[in-house]
Amino acid sequence: MKVDLKGRTALVTGAAAGIGRAIALALAENGAVIAVNDISPKGQDTCASIAAAGGQARFFRGNVGDAAKVNEMVHAVEQQLSPIDILVNNAGVNTGKNRHPVHEFEDEEWRRILGIDLDGVFYCSRVVSAGMVKRRRGTIVNIGSVLGLVPIRLQCAFAAAKAGMLHFTRSHALEVGPYGVRVNAVAPGSILTEGTKSLFYNEEARRLSESLISHIPLGRPGETSDIANAVLYLASDGAAYVTGHVLVVDGGWTAGFAREW
Ligand SMILES: NC(=O)c1ccc[n+]([C@@H]2O[C@H](COP(=O)([O-])OP(=O)(O)OC[C@H]3O[C@@H](n4cnc5c(N)ncnc54)[C@H](O)[C@@H]3O)[C@@H](O)[C@H]2O)c1
Repeated sequence: MKVDLKGRTALVTGAAAGIGRAIALALAENGAVIAVNDISPKGQDTCASIAAAGGQARFFRGNVGDAAKVNEMVHAVEQQLSPIDILVNNAGVNTGKNRHPVHEFEDEEWRRILGIDLDGVFYCSRVVSAGMVKRRRGTIVNIGSVLGLVPIRLQCAFAAAKAGMLHFTRSHALEVGPYGVRVNAVAPGSILTEGTKSLFYNEEARRLSESLISHIPLGRPGETSDIANAVLYLASDGAAYVTGHVLVVDGGWTAGFAREW
């Protein structure tokens, strides 16, 4: 997919791996200068891949769940690169294999997930949109999940955080629209990444992945590029009249009940 992002600076959180890495590469390929954020030092590898493809990127390591660090990071990006035109709130965590029902869910795990998936989005959006409002330009794309629309069992913290962030997206859009700033979200379905491959898209967990895929009308998991394409659209001027929207990219998962009955 091709859009024109020349002259724009984009901050992508959680861009060392998976969907965030694909988004950073796609934005760079379309002309944006990228501030790659991640808590992992592997964010440097994303910068190297962007440079190898002829793009421009710099790594800003940090935890999006730490408000003071987020403020410092955004200041550093704006000093070292330029004011941020595009913010992609992608960093996120879930329980992995450590799944529990609500009545057994621990405080620490609840706080860890909410602290990154919801608080992190708020911290980054707050400081970045303050500058966007002053400049009267900018766009934010939050990476939610279909589980924020239709929950599944044993992922209460993730589902609650993603539902919260989708509504946060709409509420933020209402506030900054008058300043020419747009805020949207993408809600991915099940996407192939190193993480999901090790959790269930592998031979050992075949029954689990087949059961999941039976809920998806298109009959397959999505690719990271499917999400990157949605972000490219929302971040581009082609979406100039789109704000407060949740773009679902899920192969039809949430369209309805996909199985025979
Ligand atoms: N993969 C899927 O099927 C899927 C489905 C729905 C939604 N999502 C959402 O997409 C986003 C990316 O998911 P992914 O599958 O690529 O995950 P991933 O685990 O492959 O990558 C997430 C990245 O975020 C980084 N990160 C974690 N905590 C951080 C923090 N506190 N500060 C900064 N960086 C941090 C990690 O180091 C990692 O590089 C997440 O918000 C996730 O909830 C993914």
